[in-house]
Amino acid sequence: KKIIVNMQEEKEPLGDLFGIFFEDLNHAADGGLYAEMVQNRSFEFDPMDNKEYHSLYGWEKVKRGNAEVILSIDTLEPYSEKNPHYLVIDVTKPGKGAGVLNLGYNSGFAVKEGEVYLFSCYAKSMSGKPEEFRVALEGKDGCEYAGLILQGGTAGWEKQEGRLVSSKTDTSARLVLTMPQKGRLALDFVSLFPEDTFMGRRNGMRKDIALKLKDMKPKFMRFPGGCLVHDGSLNPEDRNSMYRWKNTIGPVEERPARRNSWGYNQSLGLGFFEYFQFCEDIGAKPLPVLPGGYDPHHQRIVPLNELQPWIQDALDLIEFANGTPESEWGGIRARMGHEAPFGLEYIGIGNEEVGDAFFERYPFFHRAVREKYPEIKIIGTAGPFSAGSEYEKGWKCAKEYGSDLVDEHYYHTPEWFLANHHRYDNFRAQDPKVFLGEYASWGNTWYNALAEASFMLGLERNAKAVGLACYAPMLANVDYVNWKPDMLWFDNHRIYGSPDYYVQKLFMNHQGSRRLEIYTEGLEAPGIEEEPICGGIRLQGYHSEVIFRDVVLENSKTGEKVSFGDYHLKKEEASVWLADTEWKDYTISCRAEELDGFQGFQIFFGWQDEDNNYSWTVG
Ligand code: AHR
Repeated sequence: KKIIVNMQEEKEPLGDLFGIFFEDLNHAADGGLYAEMVQNRSFEFDPMDNKEYHSLYGWEKVKRGNAEVILSIDTLEPYSEKNPHYLVIDVTKPGKGAGVLNLGYNSGFAVKEGEVYLFSCYAKSMSGKPEEFRVALEGKDGCEYAGLILQGGTAGWEKQEGRLVSSKTDTSARLVLTMPQKGRLALDFVSLFPEDTFMGRRNGMRKDIALKLKDMKPKFMRFPGGCLVHDGSLNPEDRNSMYRWKNTIGPVEERPARRNSWGYNQSLGLGFFEYFQFCEDIGAKPLPVLPGGYDPHHQRIVPLNELQPWIQDALDLIEFANGTPESEWGGIRARMGHEAPFGLEYIGIGNEEVGDAFFERYPFFHRAVREKYPEIKIIGTAGPFSAGSEYEKGWKCAKEYGSDLVDEHYYHTPEWFLANHHRYDNFRAQDPKVFLGEYASWGNTWYNALAEASFMLGLERNAKAVGLACYAPMLANVDYVNWKPDMLWFDNHRIYGSPDYYVQKLFMNHQGSRRLEIYTEGLEAPGIEEEPICGGIRLQGYHSEVIFRDVVLENSKTGEKVSFGDYHLKKEEASVWLADTEWKDYTISCRAEELDGFQGFQIFFGWQDEDNNYSWTVG
C-alpha cells in the first residue's frame, strides 16, 4: 500500500473538544466531591428518596453511663421552611452524656492528625434555659480526637460554630453531639467540613477529588446531569421536582433537599454557584444543562402555555452567569461572592428527552435564548444513538432551528468503539456540531481505555464536526454505586483513576492543534492476525436511504472483477452483507448517493473470526 503522510495546520482548531461531565449519581456530590462530611445534615432524608431513608438516617442515639434520651423530629417553627425537619434531643437523665452521633459516609469520618475541621449547626434551646452541648470527633471505640463546647440559646435559632483539630488519623471516626445535663435542645444543619478544601473555599470541594479533575485540564464541564436534570415533577416547590437551578443558589439552608433520581437524597449544597466557581477554579468552561419542560421517564409535560417560566429559567441563568452586578441575577451572583461574570458560553436544553413533546418545546427555548443572547451557543439533544428514529428527530430538530451543537450519547462494547473509529468522518462541517455529552465503553479495563483512545483520535480528526466530548459517568463512591463503569472511584479518603481516566487526561493534557494526516491508498484491514473464517462486503447507511451504484469487487492480484450492479439500501435496513468473499487483496468501488438521511454511509470489508466476533475495515 502507498502511505501518504501530510502534515498540515488543523483547519478546524480543536477548540473546547475534550471536557468532563459531572452528574450527582453514585454519590458524586454528597459523599463525594462536595466536602461536607455529615450525612443527612438537615434531617430531610425521606422514604421518597429511598425506601430505607427516614429523617434520622445516618444518625444514632448516644447514651453514656446510665443516661436516658429521646430523639425526635419536629417541624414546628423550623429554621428554614424549605428544609422543615429538625432534631430534638430530650435528655431525661444525663449520665455521662447523651445525644446523637453521625455516621458520615463509607466507614465514617476520615480525619487526619493535626488537621482542622469546621463544625457548624443551628441550635435552639427548647427548655427555656440555655442548653450546653459537646461536639466531639471520636473513634468508633469512643476515644476522643477533638472536642468543643457550644450552647443552644433561648432566643430561637442561632448559628453555632467551632474548630476541631484532630489528634489522630482515622477513617472511621464519628461526629458526636452530647448534652452533659438534663434538658431539651433542637439542632439543624449539623455540618462538618475539612478546613483544607480545594482552593480553601467555604462550602467547598474535597481536595483530592477536585485535584484529580483539575489535573485533567478539561476544557469544559457539563453539569448537573444526566437524567437527574429532567426526572421529576413540574412544580419547583416539590421535593420531587425536576432539577431547577434557582433552588440551588443562595444560603445552603434555603436550598430544598430533593429526591435525586438516582435513589438518594441530594442536599444541593453543591449548587449552580459552586459549579460555576469550581469550573473557574479548574479552568474549565461551564456547560449547564436545563430541563426542557418534559420528563420522559414519567411523561410529565409542561403545557405550551405554561412554558414561559422554564424559558425564563434559561434566560435568568445566563444573566446569573454573565450579567453585571447591577442586573437582577448578576446581582445575586455578586452577593454570593463573585462580582465578575463567569463567562458562560454554552447552554444545553434537555438531556435525552427524545420525544415529540421535547421537539415541540425546544424551539421556544431556542428562539428566546438566541434573541436575547445571540453569542451563547445553544445545545439541543438527540439522546442515545440507539434511539434510532427518535435520535434522527433530535438531529432534524437541531438542524431546523440552527442549534450550535447536538448532544448525543452512547455506551457500547470496546469493539464497537474500535469499529466506529470513523463514525464522524461523514458528518458535515456546516451542520450543528456534535456534542458527545456521554460515552464510555462497558468496563474500566486497560482494553476499554485503549478502545476509547482509538475512538477519541477519530473525534480529534473530525473536529470540523465534533465540537465537544466528555466521558460519562465521571465519579463513583465505591459504596454507593448506581452505574458503572465510571472514570474515577473513591471512598471517604482515597481516590483512584481508572485507565479510562488516564486516557481522558492524556487527550486533554495534549490536545492537538495541528493535524498529521496519514492515509493509505485503497483499503487495508488493520491488525488482523488470525485468518477470518468468513469475510464479505458490507454496505451501511446510518439509518439513511442510500443507493450504491456499480458495486464492483476487483481481485488486485488476478484482475478478476465481480459486479454486483446497483444496491438500494432502505432506511430501515441500516446495513447489508452484500457478498461473502475473502477480504484479502480486493479493491471495491462504487458510486453512492444518499437519498434520505443526514449521516452518510460507508462501504467496507467485514469478517468474522472463530469466536463470532465481527470486525471491519476502514469504510
Ligand atoms: O451517565 C449516566 C446516565 O446515562 C445519564 O444520567 C443519562 O443521561 C444517561 O442515560
